[in-house]
Amino acid sequence: MKDFRGNPGYEQLVKKSEKLISKAFGRYTPIPVDSAKGMYLFDIAGNRYLDFTAGIATCNVGHCHPEVVDAIKKQADKVIHLMDHIGYYPPYIELVEKVNTLLPEGFRDAAAFLVNGGSEAVEVAIKLARMVTGRPVVLSFLGAFHGRTMGALALTASNMNYKVGLGSLFTGVHHVPFPYNPSKKGADLTEESLGFIRTLLKSAIHPEDVAAIIIEPIQGESGYRIPPDDFLPELRKLCDEFGLLLIFDEIQTGFGRTGKMFALEHWNVEPDVICLAKAFGGGLPLSAMFAKQELNEKWRPAAHGSTFGGNPLAIAASLKSIEIILRDNLVQNSWEMGSYLVNLLESEKKRVNAIGEIRGKGLMIAVDIVDNEGNPFENCKDILYRAAEKGLVLSTCGTNSIRICPPLIINKSQVEEGVEILLDCIVDAVG
Ligand SMILES: Cc1ncc(COP(=O)(O)O)c(C=O)c1O
Repeated sequence: MKDFRGNPGYEQLVKKSEKLISKAFGRYTPIPVDSAKGMYLFDIAGNRYLDFTAGIATCNVGHCHPEVVDAIKKQADKVIHLMDHIGYYPPYIELVEKVNTLLPEGFRDAAAFLVNGGSEAVEVAIKLARMVTGRPVVLSFLGAFHGRTMGALALTASNMNYKVGLGSLFTGVHHVPFPYNPSKKGADLTEESLGFIRTLLKSAIHPEDVAAIIIEPIQGESGYRIPPDDFLPELRKLCDEFGLLLIFDEIQTGFGRTGKMFALEHWNVEPDVICLAKAFGGGLPLSAMFAKQELNEKWRPAAHGSTFGGNPLAIAASLKSIEIILRDNLVQNSWEMGSYLVNLLESEKKRVNAIGEIRGKGLMIAVDIVDNEGNPFENCKDILYRAAEKGLVLSTCGTNSIRICPPLIINKSQVEEGVEILLDCIVDAVG
């Protein structure tokens, strides 16, 4: 690849990246990024790109929001790193108290363990679940993505690439069916999934060996898959019936992404543990496991630790970005702009045959792409490349879905601009 949109030194950059960045690293687009602001990325040559990825559902207040930048700069003058185990750090408490007010009622006095990335937060959650219950088994869902570290990866079942060649992982994980299946229209998917879990608990694994069930309220990596409306409330009941903890992984869905502050609000379900990351850090690496107080009280002191977890710069960025999300009504904007975007795409479905199912809540939207026979289109990467050439940044999820998860500050004309480019690229790539 000699050139991309007139970027100087592009061929060298690609060559070096391919050699010096681990082969295991995947990349969505060919864009050589130089800077970012608000809804846009800029490449080295100065070309502007409308960003429909937000660093994968992370930069919810937009890139380099001036108030977040300012908060980070001020914090950098004060203290950059502490290792919070060294003493007491008031902003840590301020952040936990703030998030507790946004979580469901039972989390008003929840205890948090702050760490650095999504996978790590999941590791903390499963450690807590196993340690406080003394039970070895965790149930997870087929299609789930909970991260790539060895414990979180054991729970993940979205893509075999992450596991092939690894050998044995953390034991005690059993996968159960997630209630989403477009080819089974009309089937009672809730009953199928819960029926499977009940059978498992009656015939194969004793409930007293099961610590928890972990679930993404809307599955992310495997294609923005939304469960039926009765599913999460019924899953909560099943956990109560068998005495199992319910862990929600809101790492991708949290902080307004789905048009609610947290996706669990769509169904009014209260889990026992919540994992947060991505948008939580306002663009800096920050994640957390929030557990109800009665669980926290059962955890042994010093059972877990982290050098960088709860880093002061990340806490400052997090506090500021939560303030912005609330003050600027970005959760509402996520719902309104998401609905507007879905309606625009739906209205083009008749013209653009390659558009299959469109799914989503708020600004967490997946568009299935199908070929001329209606089968899953295998080369979504081509659509991403064409979009980048026209100034739109996209990513994929699932097997054949275009993933749309822009910053929550997006406005109508940016939605229209992005949709127009996307449609052109779908038509050009699929026909
Ligand atoms: C739902 C969910 N859980 C966990 C993770 C893992 O997060 P990280 O990549 O920060 O380890 C992700 C990342 O995409 C995610 O979407």
